Amino acid sequence: MDTDRWLEDERRELEQAGHWRSLRPTMSAPAGRVLLDGREVISLASTNYLGLSAHPEVVRACNEATLEYGTGASGSRLIAGNSHLYEILESNIAAILNTEAALVFSSGYLANISTIPPLVGEGDLILSDERNHISLIEGCRLSRAAKRIYRHCDPEHLKELLADSSNFRRRLIVTDGVFSMDGDFPPLAEICEIAETYDAMLIVDDVHGFGILGQSGGGVVDYLGVADRGIIQIGALSKAVGGVGAFVAGSKSLIDLLINRARGFIFTTALPPGTLAAASTAIDIIRSNPEFRYRLFANVHSLRTRLSEAGFQLLPNETHILPLILGEAKTTTQFADALLSKGVFAPAIRPPTVPDGTSRLRITPTASHTREELEKALEGFIAARIATAGFC
Ligand SMILES: Cc1ncc(COP(=O)(O)O)c(C=O)c1O
Repeated sequence: MDTDRWLEDERRELEQAGHWRSLRPTMSAPAGRVLLDGREVISLASTNYLGLSAHPEVVRACNEATLEYGTGASGSRLIAGNSHLYEILESNIAAILNTEAALVFSSGYLANISTIPPLVGEGDLILSDERNHISLIEGCRLSRAAKRIYRHCDPEHLKELLADSSNFRRRLIVTDGVFSMDGDFPPLAEICEIAETYDAMLIVDDVHGFGILGQSGGGVVDYLGVADRGIIQIGALSKAVGGVGAFVAGSKSLIDLLINRARGFIFTTALPPGTLAAASTAIDIIRSNPEFRYRLFANVHSLRTRLSEAGFQLLPNETHILPLILGEAKTTTQFADALLSKGVFAPAIRPPTVPDGTSRLRITPTASHTREELEKALEGFIAARIATAGFC
């Protein structure tokens, strides 16, 4: 087989569709500004939404744990890697979410692909929102359960798809909490009712809402007042918490089952001590100091208002993710390049991450941005529109 030729053909195909991606060196701590290809630009692309990855207390906790316990975990959790720092972190997570227990995974991707297969398999049925994150979709595939896709955030359609589901052994509804590319969230109160009526389990993957939404930062489940409805919650340590990793939170019996059956928990090396200590400290800060969330939403409100006044049509939502849909992948990449040339980084999000014809900029102001940076960002958008002949 001529591997090089085949790889070249694949590359050409992706390039022609405007879908080719490549890596860029980013050399500074992610905050309001980043060093990209050696040049300082304003970043509107970070998921370090609260800026906690560079918070002095978080960095200190990471350093101290690293000095004391070393850089690695020395094994998987069920063998040699179950640091006591996991227990501290998991009880912190369970406390902020008011659940019986929580279990940390090494990433959100792993948490999602590992949590669904222990819950459902052949003879069971999964109901999945059409815009769910790819890791949930992969988790559904791995489970081998039957799958029905309901229209985005549409409880009526979900109900229709459940109507004749009584012959399945178990039913599982799966949805993003905050949809990562649209910034909207599902009508969870209605979905909980449907789950109860049809005796279905419900997973909410709230990696983008955890730490941000709700009275104490518990996420969308907290924000929508459904924390007491038995939802299996998945959240991230890699977004608002500013580090890496994720968790599943719910009943003790759920967590015990995952410890025994979740392959992406069992068959992988545990997280480093510094990562665990940093995440615990960041969650303490989120719980005790709402100031970071207030600052984030002040910045989100300000940038949304200023961009809208300038004629940019952002998708409406109540969250911190501002989607600007530009349509075709090539057009969106041209706009993102023009924006970058004006000193503002908000890369093009293209298929397969989003559906064809809905390529976009996913604009994420953070708590770290200053007013001046947001004003400069706005000027960048206006200049980029002129430079690209005004296609948005
Ligand atoms: C909705 C959603 N779930 C899961 C993930 C995966 O999380 P992680 O980056 O921790 O692997 C992402 C990635 O950003 C996501 O947007």
